Amino acid sequence: MTETLQPPGTHLRATRSGALHGEVTVPGDKSMSHRALILGALASGETQIHGLLEGEDVLRTSAAVQAFGAAIDRIGPGEWRVRGTEWQSPAEPIDCGNSGTGARLLMGAAAGFPITVTFTGDISLSSRPMERVLAPLRTMGARTEGSTLPVTIHGGGLTRIDFVNEKASAQVKSAILLAGLRASGDVRVVEPSPSRDHSENMLRAFGCDVVSDGQSITLGGSRTLTGTSVTVPGDPSSAAFPIVAALLIPNSEVTVRNMMVNPLRTGLLTTLGEMGADIRLDNRRSEGGEAVADVTVRASALRGVVVPAVRAPSMIDEYPILAVAAAFANGRTTMRGLAELRVKESDRLAAMVAGLTAGGVDAREEGDDLIIEGNGSPPVGGAEVQAHHDHRIAMSFLVLGLAAQQPVSVDSADMIATSFPDFVPLMRALGAQIA
Ligand code: S3P
Repeated sequence: MTETLQPPGTHLRATRSGALHGEVTVPGDKSMSHRALILGALASGETQIHGLLEGEDVLRTSAAVQAFGAAIDRIGPGEWRVRGTEWQSPAEPIDCGNSGTGARLLMGAAAGFPITVTFTGDISLSSRPMERVLAPLRTMGARTEGSTLPVTIHGGGLTRIDFVNEKASAQVKSAILLAGLRASGDVRVVEPSPSRDHSENMLRAFGCDVVSDGQSITLGGSRTLTGTSVTVPGDPSSAAFPIVAALLIPNSEVTVRNMMVNPLRTGLLTTLGEMGADIRLDNRRSEGGEAVADVTVRASALRGVVVPAVRAPSMIDEYPILAVAAAFANGRTTMRGLAELRVKESDRLAAMVAGLTAGGVDAREEGDDLIIEGNGSPPVGGAEVQAHHDHRIAMSFLVLGLAAQQPVSVDSADMIATSFPDFVPLMRALGAQIA
């Protein structure tokens, strides 16, 4: 656990704002940014990355792959070059900061090499479960110590695995596939429902044979990675904040250009559509192997809906901001099957119920479901909310404050820099009052 994991606590306050207007691009997708750096660091030759997210989580992964021996150059904003290598044991522990994706994917990739490495992280990451990745890596032949950070992995000599996961998890799937790049037999991962497929798409772009029907993913045949060019589109999980803000603040109209709309990431748009949101996708195209569009949102009256558990993998990081939207909707919104939210950067179920309740919203947990009763008008707000060092909780409550009757403050907003360093200036440019 390092000191950088105990942020000093930057307080931010959001105040009811006039209509939001404008066009924005959000930073590069976080999932793809981690993967581009890691695959580039495993590949022969040079990989050019365009649009890399320069948030703290991804910068940790960049430092990590350098520590394993890869050469990394930042050419300009979002423009990076990576030269891969055989990974070496790093001199120091790898500090993954706040990033579960960085930690779990790097563990998988490192396990393929005959090296020893210790992973550490901040206070939040140090409490998150790592066994979900370590158990399959052990099945493949790695030796591991620790089940939460610090975790040490002794890699190399990996063999085949046929892994049936009981939950859909892109991080677990990706860790196994990355380890499988250097395993002696075929590697297959089966999931109960499809999780985001950026690893599969990007592995193919680097020249690997990955066969997938969405739920069963096999890495066989060629596992040689050759450096390539990766373009990272805008992160839908970041775009979610200006999108929901524009829906909630009367007379707003906002366009998010160049947003990734991979169907395994657009559960929030589906849900908001069912709630009655006016959302339009224009200029649909494919960029770097991923579907991309310009997304225009206009302020809308929303109604409560039931969000089925099966949709969770496609919007797992968007429940906090959906909960804010539900607080303004007319009627009850029930979000089912959210057990995984308890082991994200914070216990997001508990954090949302506490903050919404403090802001005058009728919100409760029932088992693993989140239930919010809206009455179709802005909640009172007027609360100071604990963000629990969680970027998405902080941004969600700031959006609440932009449309609630009274301002909403968050106790520490530092962690926003992990995924969306320019959140505050971007929202202000649209007309949001955040100070
Ligand atoms: C991610 C997968 C998801 C998501 C996380 C990013 C990824 O986690 O919550 O923010 O990039 O693979 P799980 O794999 O635990 O569902």
